[in-house]
Parts: sequence; structure tokens; C-alpha cells
Amino acid sequence: RIAAIDALEILDSRGNPTVRVFVELENGIRSCASVPSGASTGENEAIELRDNNSTRYNGKGVRTAVDNVTKIIAPEIIGIKAEDQAVIDRLMIELDGSENKANLGANAILGVSMAVTRAAAESLGMPLYRYLGGSGACRLPVPMMNILNGGAHADNSVDFQEYMAVPIGFDTFSEGLRAIAETFHALKKLLNSRGLATGVGDEGGFAPNLGSNEEAMEVILEAIAKAGYQPGSDIAMSLDSAASSFSPDLKSTYDLQWSKGGALTSQQMVDLVCKWVADYPIVSWEDPLAEGDWDGFAQITERIGNTVQIVGDDIFVTNPRYIKQGVDWLTANSVLIKLNQIGTVTETIEAIRLCRDAGWTYVISHRSGETEDTFIADFAVAMDGGQIKTGSASRSDRVAKYNRLLEIEHHLGQDARYYWKR
Ligand code: PGA
Ligand code: ZN
Repeated sequence: RIAAIDALEILDSRGNPTVRVFVELENGIRSCASVPSGASTGENEAIELRDNNSTRYNGKGVRTAVDNVTKIIAPEIIGIKAEDQAVIDRLMIELDGSENKANLGANAILGVSMAVTRAAAESLGMPLYRYLGGSGACRLPVPMMNILNGGAHADNSVDFQEYMAVPIGFDTFSEGLRAIAETFHALKKLLNSRGLATGVGDEGGFAPNLGSNEEAMEVILEAIAKAGYQPGSDIAMSLDSAASSFSPDLKSTYDLQWSKGGALTSQQMVDLVCKWVADYPIVSWEDPLAEGDWDGFAQITERIGNTVQIVGDDIFVTNPRYIKQGVDWLTANSVLIKLNQIGTVTETIEAIRLCRDAGWTYVISHRSGETEDTFIADFAVAMDGGQIKTGSASRSDRVAKYNRLLEIEHHLGQDARYYWKR
């Protein structure tokens, strides 16, 4: 049973405050969890509570959320068994009382939810992936490594937010990871040789100023080949254009820096995505359109959904309500899963269940603001979706997740599985 709960304001990978929660059980087990934070957030995400006190951290302090954990949530859940995750999550949702966790803050609620999961796993003496996934949880996810950053995650001239290398032609996670890490190094050399900047963006990928969005794709394909791999069969590409960030009305116009004739219409954006998919070895495309452009999403899915995974992030915000609507309307065929978009472990698992029932894939994801917490690594193995997106081969906030996956693979030994399938 839960004996005590404590919380603390800590820093995320962008130097902004976030919430860390400690849970202590009566049997002496202590666990902790830290909450991530996004930059290109969807409008319908659960609310991340900030103090808005401009004299601290530019208003981004989270002391209120911390207080909500220790003063409001803790008294209600102390005494409940940590294994009763659904009960605890439900209780917090009721305590909050709003649609989007605006009162207590999704950062307060999720911190408790994750720390409770960990405490339960630890008190049963199980690794987190086994506790959440059962004895069958032995599949390592294929990583989508974000090696070139643009959009809201970097101050460069690239519109699309994430260019990711996906090791699809390997037999083990560690070999796949090695291939994309080598590609990351090859890319650095290539950029260097062209006099381009090799500083990194929020998710650890390079953030050079390039002449076009296509040039980003070309230089990565070159890096894959330079690293000794076959683009398309060994390593494929995945994109997150995070299109809401360059669509002022979030649905019908797309303001790309490199489009010659001014802003694109939704139809032109759909055509552009289809052309790229025909021209390049792309296996997955996240948020090709803005979060309000449900028609455009459906059109893209109809045109190229058979060959490419169309992932909804800002449009679904890991919320079962929007995912259901998406399934009904054939809006996409995959969902990006971020725990803090919805705010509890239970609701996140519910979102994943909906994807499975619909025959959709799902990608477990970090946020652009992260911490050293590796919860999502275990979560990806437990949820058995076979895909994770957790940044580049630099920045410890990203690499920590890869290292945890290597550790899980090592522990699983002969039982570990790894394959690409969508
Ligand atoms: P965010 O970016 O964490 O800044 O929202 C990640 C993504 O868009 O997938
Ligand atoms: Zn995204």
C-alpha cells in the first residue's frame, strides 16, 4: 500500500521546470518518475500546469503542480494498493474534475501515475516492462532516430520538424541501433565537409541551415550510404512534419519557407507528401497535415495509407475520444502515443487498446523536453507495438532510453525479438 508521496520541481532537457514524484510503499519500496514536456503541442492536449509567475523561470515554474501532488492528491491515495493503477488514476481524474486535467495539471497527475506503476513493479520484484506487459513482453521496438531537426525544435531553415532513420533490415535491436548511430556520425561528417553547422536541436539531431526540405532528405540518404547501409532496405526514413506548426489556421494553409509560390493549400500539401513518398524510401509520416485538417488526413490515408504509416500526433493527442473518431473516419492508420498528452498510464493504455482493436499501429514517443526518466523504454516493450521514437544518438535525455532498451534486450537474452512490421 502507498505510505507516502512527495514531489519536487526539477529541470527538463530544455532547462524548464518539470515535476518529479516520489512514491513510498508500506513495504519500504521507493520509486520515482519525472514528467516530460512538449514544444509543438496539440491544442487538445491535457493541460500542463505552470505557475505563470513571471519572476520565476519566465512563468514556467511548476510549484503549483508540485503542491497539488503533495497537498491534494497524496491524502486521497495514501493507503491504496499500488497495483490498483486504474483505481488511482480514476480517483485523480475525479479529483481534478475537468475535461483536460486543467485543475490539478496533467504534469501533477502523470507524475503520480507513473511513479505508482513503478512502485507496483518494484514491490513485485519485476522490471517495469514485465509488470506492464506480462511474460510475453519480449519484443524490442524499432527506433525512429531523429537525426535532423527542424521546425519548432531548432532555429534553422528546415520546415519539417523531424527526419528520422529507421533500421528496418536488422535482426536485433542493438544491431539496428548501431546502424542508425553510425549514420548519425556519417551525417555529422557530411555536414561538416559542406561547411554546415553540426550543433544539435532539442531532440539531439543536427540542425543545419539547408537550402530546401528536400536537401535534408538527400543528405540523410547520402549519410546512410556513407555509413555502409542500403537506404530503403537496411534503413528507411520516417518524417514528422508537425504540420500544425506551419499552418496558421491549423487546417487549410501551409506556410513552408521553401515553397516558391507562397503558402500551400491543404490539397497541395497532400500532393507534396504523396510525391515525397513516391520519391524517397519513407515508411512512416507523422502529422503530414495540421491537427484541424481531418479531411486532408483522410485523403492522404486513402491515397498512400497502404504503403506508408500515417501517424496522428497533434490530431489525436493520445486521447481515446479523438482516436475513436479517427478510426471511424479513416483519418490515419497509426497513433503517436505520449503519456503526458492524456495524463495517466491507464488512459494511455486505453488509447493503445483502441489502436490494436482497429488494426492500427502505434508509436511510443518521448517529448522534445525530456528528463533522464526511461519509463517509455519499458513501456514500449510492454505495449508490444514494435516502434519507439526517442530522439537522436546524442543528449543523455535521449540516449538514456536507448541504453535502457539495450539493457532490456540484454536481460531478455535469447527471448528478445526484433523486427519491423507495420
Ligand atoms: P513535442 O514534439 O514534444 O515538442 O510535441 C514531438 C512530436 O511532435 O512528436
Ligand atoms: Zn509529432
